[in-house]
Amino acid sequence: MAIREIIILPDKQLRLVSKPIEKVTPQVRKLADDMLETMYDAPGIGLAAIQIAEPVRLITMDLSKKDDEQKQPRVFINPEILSVSEELSVYEEGCLSIPEYYEEVERPATVRIRYLDLDGKVHDEEATGLFATCIQHEIDHLNGVLFVDYLSKLKRDRVMKKFTKAAKQRAIG
Ligand code: NI
Repeated sequence: MAIREIIILPDKQLRLVSKPIEKVTPQVRKLADDMLETMYDAPGIGLAAIQIAEPVRLITMDLSKKDDEQKQPRVFINPEILSVSEELSVYEEGCLSIPEYYEEVERPATVRIRYLDLDGKVHDEEATGLFATCIQHEIDHLNGVLFVDYLSKLKRDRVMKKFTKAAKQRAIG
């Protein structure tokens, strides 16, 4: 396992549409391991492969509480949203690719998802609460969508400007 570098805004790779995984190979398992290690190190509760510059449809997640001793790592391969509830819920979201920036986002409260696990087995599952928000946020990453896209133009422009400026400063320094 290895901790990989997380790409951050305004890196253009974050806008790529990731490709489906055709077969669960040892390389895919290795990538999932690296993503989990990177996610725990950050620390974060979810990570999409594109966030470590790998444009494939792979997501890792762990929604267990911080003080839980038992980790609950989860891996979603080629996840799809099959249906969404009319009911909406609001969560304050953040993103490892947009560090230290948090805003409330409204999304469907419940979603039905389908995905493959690391054994290539298909799962159909209903996600609610934080799980629903997190899986929607991560699937968005696979489609090149970021949570700031749901904010007002004013807020989005402000955060884009802030991160563009910070990237320039990093390039100089
Ligand atoms: Ni994110």
